[in-house]
Amino acid sequence: MNSLKIFSGNSNLPLATKITEYLGTRLGQGRITLFPDGEIQVKVDEDVRGGDVFVIQSTCSPVNHHLMELLIFIDCLRRASAARITAVLPYFGYARQDRKDEGRVPITAKLVANLLTTAGVDRVLTLDLHAAQIQGFFDIPVDHLLAEPVISYHLKELDLNGSLMLVSPDVGNVKRARAYAQRFNVDLAIIDKRRVSGSDIVIENIIGNVKDKTVLMVDDLISTGGTICNAANLCMDRGAKAVYVAATHPVLCGPAVERLASAPIKSLIVTDTIPLSSRAKEELTGIDVLTVSELLGEAIRRIHRNESVSSLFITG
Ligand code: R5P
Repeated sequence: MNSLKIFSGNSNLPLATKITEYLGTRLGQGRITLFPDGEIQVKVDEDVRGGDVFVIQSTCSPVNHHLMELLIFIDCLRRASAARITAVLPYFGYARQDRKDEGRVPITAKLVANLLTTAGVDRVLTLDLHAAQIQGFFDIPVDHLLAEPVISYHLKELDLNGSLMLVSPDVGNVKRARAYAQRFNVDLAIIDKRRVSGSDIVIENIIGNVKDKTVLMVDDLISTGGTICNAANLCMDRGAKAVYVAATHPVLCGPAVERLASAPIKSLIVTDTIPLSSRAKEELTGIDVLTVSELLGEAIRRIHRNESVSSLFITG
């Protein structure tokens, strides 16, 4: 079997380190530096010839820089004769640009898929894509894991009481919310949301009755916080007892921290696919950050050994 090598770009070092700890290995030696004009330079400092190489990189903010870093890393590994290169994207940036919903707009998620393939990746491992169909933008194998088992395990520990109800903050999240509703065997309500700009949304109604319910709202990501905070306010206005929020990717840009800090959210749960900013750590004191290192680490172990990863979608 080719030797397992794991590298990381600069964006995901804490998660990447935890993954290597789970696997009982260490991160490969490599350097990413900048030329004075901002160009990225990558140097891999160990032999990767014939290796089964995984590069862990969330394409989070600064998105373009992290994406370029990943592409250059892949090119470097390919030219250093790695036998197989897997791009591990705990968070896949640009995923929200997955279709033409009006005239004269790009499908940037597809462009990113093309860029990764052209750079030389053989397969992709990712988590909670904004839209599962992005898997089809690639003509190479894509393993798409869900953070739901990790988050559900944590929620079970919280012992939310009998009046729990799942709420999808928009129509796009219904499938995700339904998976949680089935896991907890509770009802599902849906919020009717309309996006008016990148940072503003309008929430019109809830389909379902949340009165006297403990609401659990799940989303793939929180960006500016508009969706989740407005949805939490609406649930409380409609008589919910409390609102819990679980989102896989804490993008948390623009007014997100401020909005979340003042929203009627009893508990906010995210994962470590994106490192929290120091401001978010300071101001969102009650935030629970769950690690997906074991989930991704186990997937890497199984891919490396040519074993099935499908059982990682199911937990007790
Ligand atoms: C939307 O389709 C996504 O699932 C998120 O709900 C959305 O992107 C979050 O954005 P924001 O936090 O800016 O409302």
